[in-house]
Amino acid sequence: MNAEGAGPGSRLEVVSTVEALRARLRGEASVVLVPTMGNLHAGHLALVAEARRHGSCVVASIFVNRLQFEPGGDFDRYPRTLERDCELLAAAGCHVVFAPGESELYPEPQEIRLAPPKAAEQLCGEFRPGHFEGVVTVVAKLFNIVAPHTAVFGRKDYQQLFVIRTLVRQMNYPVRIVGVDTVREPDGLAMSSRNGYLSSEERTKAVRLGRELRAVKAAIESGRRDHEALCEIATANLTAAGWRVDYVALRNQSGLAVPGPADRDLVVLGAAWLGRTRLIDNLEIRA
Ligand code: PAF
Repeated sequence: MNAEGAGPGSRLEVVSTVEALRARLRGEASVVLVPTMGNLHAGHLALVAEARRHGSCVVASIFVNRLQFEPGGDFDRYPRTLERDCELLAAAGCHVVFAPGESELYPEPQEIRLAPPKAAEQLCGEFRPGHFEGVVTVVAKLFNIVAPHTAVFGRKDYQQLFVIRTLVRQMNYPVRIVGVDTVREPDGLAMSSRNGYLSSEERTKAVRLGRELRAVKAAIESGRRDHEALCEIATANLTAAGWRVDYVALRNQSGLAVPGPADRDLVVLGAAWLGRTRLIDNLEIRA
């Protein structure tokens, strides 16, 4: 499958097998990977734009990774929109799409799985059992298949980015990890493939998560140090507005640990449900 690209003479090639991908990339001097699960939005396209700054061949992978969905999660209803995704990627100047079927990436039961670091047991890891194991396992496979020198991930999935940086460091992958800032809708909602699940009433309410995190950030930046109380207020406000909150939490940026008095570089992270949709967001803070 081919699609016209944005750049002069550029064409997007879509490949679905490991063998075809390796053949296509043979001889490419500088491959940059943008791993995705598809159903792309402007946030993903910002990753591609960043990827283009780091190498001459941008590969976007599109694979809805069953391993990272918790039991009862949204694996089955996760939107598969390959054709539209390829049009967007072509227009964004991506060079290759790797869109394997499940039997290509997991031709046999994936018995060998990587254990994520301790920092993955908290926050989203606490509420999504097996999620980060599935993420590190598929990302390691993608690194082995694509062999990029750089890979680009969104900062919206803050804990995921932390876990992947740890994977690369501890497993000696020769891959530079680049994080890209969250892209937001005009009203501040962090872009997410899951925003499409929201009813119009929920969509209106959805800005509240970011607003509560901004309030925590503003309070800390103005000198407050009662982190737990601030997170509890945010949780109570969200709950009162009809959300089911998994967590609102303050962590340090260096280790995703509960901050000590000397920590200045912090991040407030939140995950909460509106109806059947789980949204996450985060904001970095300089205390
Ligand atoms: O962030 C995502 O879309 C996924 O977790 C990733 C990194 C593509 C792995 O499946």
